[in-house]
Amino acid sequence: MQPPRQDTGTPATRFSAEHSAEVVTSSFAGTPDPRLREIMTSAVRHLHAFVKDVEPTVEEWATAIGFLTDVGATCTPVRQEFILLSDILGVSMLVETLNNPAGHATESTVEGPFHMVDSPPRPLGADIALDGKGDRCLVTGTVKDADGTPVPGAVVDVWQANADGFYDVQQPELQPERNLRGLFTADDQGRFWFRSIVPRYYPIPTDGPVGRLLNATARHPNRPAHIHFDVRATGFRPLVTHLFVADTPYIDSDAVFGVKDSLVREFSTVDDPARAADAGLPSPFRTVHFDVVLRPEEQQ
Ligand code: BEZ
Ligand code: FE
Repeated sequence: MQPPRQDTGTPATRFSAEHSAEVVTSSFAGTPDPRLREIMTSAVRHLHAFVKDVEPTVEEWATAIGFLTDVGATCTPVRQEFILLSDILGVSMLVETLNNPAGHATESTVEGPFHMVDSPPRPLGADIALDGKGDRCLVTGTVKDADGTPVPGAVVDVWQANADGFYDVQQPELQPERNLRGLFTADDQGRFWFRSIVPRYYPIPTDGPVGRLLNATARHPNRPAHIHFDVRATGFRPLVTHLFVADTPYIDSDAVFGVKDSLVREFSTVDDPARAADAGLPSPFRTVHFDVVLRPEEQQ
């Protein structure tokens, strides 16, 4: 058996703990797709460095494999436990943020698993709170480009949890279908507005392996209250983001690290019967304004 040839400058070919990463990365040297080669080389380097750092016992490694097996087994067509794992490790937000660097546009955040049904098209001003529960709220905003020019006809898709912290799809027996969802088309000045309720914070699903990991690491599962937005217009990059309620619990400890300061707004209280009548809401009501700035399609 040849000793590893590292001292001659030639990569080692025989496996050893010392040269494990080099031995394995060299096995990918002939990968035809250069991007796949780059990804596999980096993944192996980091994974081997992690194992050398932690030095897991054989039992611990079997536990890790068992955990990932459970994560896979928990996935169904409507439940994606691997994305949830990526979310609670902050990897979803890192990928999102690296691909949508902060600039002049509205910042993005994770889409989450509850955009699983199409939002119904609704006229501007519609009330999306079909169950009538919770603090009534008027949401207004304008879709603009980076120069502040309105984007007429932008399509604004919104979805949110109810006053108990559940999406309609989590409570099909209790909530009306498509409760707290709406697809709005901005007017000729890029404006949108709709009536809703102030959402509540809620826990991400904890009945699977990701929940057990949160529990074992003494982390809470909660997300601060938010309204999801998916905004699209011809010539612009689609934007997936949230509007966060400033005074919600967990604003500084989101279980999936989704909060960006630029997305947090006060939902102020309006105690004025005339304005309430204008808005079609009882007095007092809450209101929030959220302008959305889109990035041109070609801009990275
Ligand atoms: C959500 O905001 O709907 C969400 C995001 C990530 C994980 C779970 C839920
Ligand atoms: Fe959500």
